[in-house]
Amino acid sequence: MPKPFLCLGIETSCDETAAAVVADGRRILSNVVASQADLHRRYGGVFPELASRRHVEAVLPVIRAALDEAGAAFSDLGLVAVTRGPGLVGALLVGVSAAKALAFAHDLPLVGVNHLAGHIYANFLDGEPPEWPAVCLVVSGGHTHLLHIEDHGRMRLLGATRDDAAGEAFDKVARLLGLPYPGGPQIDLLARRGDAEAIPFPRAMLDEDNLDFSFSGLKTAVAVYLEREAAAGRTPDRADVAASFQRAAVEVLVAKTVRAADATGVSRVIVAGGVAANAALRERLLAAAAERGLAVSIPPPALCTDNAAMIACAGYHAWRAGRVDGLDMDVAARLPIAGAL
Ligand code: KG4
Ligand code: ZN
Repeated sequence: MPKPFLCLGIETSCDETAAAVVADGRRILSNVVASQADLHRRYGGVFPELASRRHVEAVLPVIRAALDEAGAAFSDLGLVAVTRGPGLVGALLVGVSAAKALAFAHDLPLVGVNHLAGHIYANFLDGEPPEWPAVCLVVSGGHTHLLHIEDHGRMRLLGATRDDAAGEAFDKVARLLGLPYPGGPQIDLLARRGDAEAIPFPRAMLDEDNLDFSFSGLKTAVAVYLEREAAAGRTPDRADVAASFQRAAVEVLVAKTVRAADATGVSRVIVAGGVAANAALRERLLAAAAERGLAVSIPPPALCTDNAAMIACAGYHAWRAGRVDGLDMDVAARLPIAGAL
């Protein structure tokens, strides 16, 4: 049997220090994620300078742990893939510097990966890989995009949020409800005990003939509702608020994704990013897709949120397509999704 091709993935774009070893671009041999959520909780969001410092402390032990867990040595690797953007510049620099040093020291090719491409490629890990063409919904803390992907390397942006990202809306509403950072998973849990029909929050842009989103009005609607209840001396049921907000957000995400599939004529939908871990989104998208005969691919929840296996997978596909980056590769706080695959 031929030896598997091993890629080391490194991810430090936000508040997770992560490293993974992936065989042949699909089989996860290790996937280590050191979360900094405890560090940032008291600030209610990511504190960039603290994130960079924690990455500096964590990156080498996390890489070591990923290699050990995979039973691999540096000499077994064929490629180093690292997130080069978008994200926090100071945080990205830690991972990229580590990746460059390892690539140089062990004479390995280096590939810089767009973080969002990483989220998309999480769908190609383990299990049966999805086939193109597909419509892809990317829903993370910083981005909300609808893409038409025709093949590896060929994609077109169909729509995007005009203000807040979906994950940002979850985090901001969680904050309004007094839930700890990161708020998305907290809303997901709280909403399970609430009535999603209790409060008719707005479905922004649902009736507009485009594939864009807007979530800031929904967040404001929740804030106004909570203020009004407080002014009237009432204590709102937080679970009902969480469930009703989540229903409004999910309904728009699902409706526009299905519309994008109709508009492009594809029969496959791929979902990516942290918010794809949301139970209500998964359930409603699967139901809507089943009704229309659309195939759906959503990574398991642990691969939806930030990790390095997805970076290794995306890096592997880029490398297979002939991409290699030099040691002069730079990080980028902003990096367009177009051309990222
Ligand atoms: O993709 P990700 O891990 O990091 C970025 O690239 O931004 O996404 C993080 C976002 C956060 O806003 C977080 O609250 C949200 O994804 N998130 C969720 C869930 N898990 C993570 N939102 C709703 N439900 C979840 N279960
Ligand atoms: Zn992410």
